Amino acid sequence: MQRQVVHQMLETQQLGVSFGGVHALSGVSLAIEPGRIYGLIGPNGAGKSTAINAITGTIVPTAGRILWHGKDVSRWPQYRRARSGLARTFQNLALFHKLSVWENVACGALHAHDDPNLRGAVDAALDAFGLAQLADEPVNVLSLGTRKRVEMARATVANAKLLLLDEPAAGLTGGEITEFSERMREFRDRGGSVLLVEHDMSLVMTLCEHIFVLDFGKLIAGGTPDEVRANPAVQAAYFGAGDEQLH
Ligand SMILES: Nc1ncnc2c1ncn2[C@@H]1O[C@H](COP(=O)(O)OP(=O)(O)O)[C@@H](O)[C@H]1O
Ligand SMILES: [Mg+2]
Repeated sequence: MQRQVVHQMLETQQLGVSFGGVHALSGVSLAIEPGRIYGLIGPNGAGKSTAINAITGTIVPTAGRILWHGKDVSRWPQYRRARSGLARTFQNLALFHKLSVWENVACGALHAHDDPNLRGAVDAALDAFGLAQLADEPVNVLSLGTRKRVEMARATVANAKLLLLDEPAAGLTGGEITEFSERMREFRDRGGSVLLVEHDMSLVMTLCEHIFVLDFGKLIAGGTPDEVRANPAVQAAYFGAGDEQLH
């Protein structure tokens, strides 16, 4: 009989990151399946950005492994992870401000520059994020919310399967946040997954189907929004930190 091994889309096993004596992450094991929206929350300094950086390859973990479709990618450089569908946006936007929207999004697919479908892929990403009308505009004339959509289009143009977002809703208007949620649901409905780091708790609680909670670099809870909200350890972490509320 053949033994079938079922791999998660992404799995971290006992992931650890230390900066000198600071254990920014320790023993973090989490799993992400295709077609779901996940949240990663925790008080300031809990290790959320460090987790995104380690998973996408901006920093090298000091312990544990990152499995992507069952392959250990812990030592892969960032560009290789991105090409294989592990995409991110940055907490502070990283766009080419004098280039057009179209050119910025095309930068996300440069490794495929000789692909005859590149133009079509860029146009499809612009469509998916409501940017087709703005294709020729330079990025520096756009609102913050629109520039964030350009970043997401760029991140997903190269066939992203998992989108890791570090505080994407910061500075957005209510209308832009609603639109962002819609885009993420559409991405999910096309089979993509999202790992969302976000301070806006009402957004996390309504958009995410599963939430991981970090505190002092450790995973203290994981579950549905209702389970996480009702978890005493999570409440203690938030009330202890005193700077955020779960509601
Ligand atoms: N490059 C770094 N060098 C030293 N310490 C860092 C570095 N990046 C993060 N840290 C520390 O690691 C911990 C987690 O930080 P971070 O992942 O940015 O938290 P969060 O995103 O949850 O606010 C904090 O104590 C932070 O000061
Ligand atoms: Mg952060």
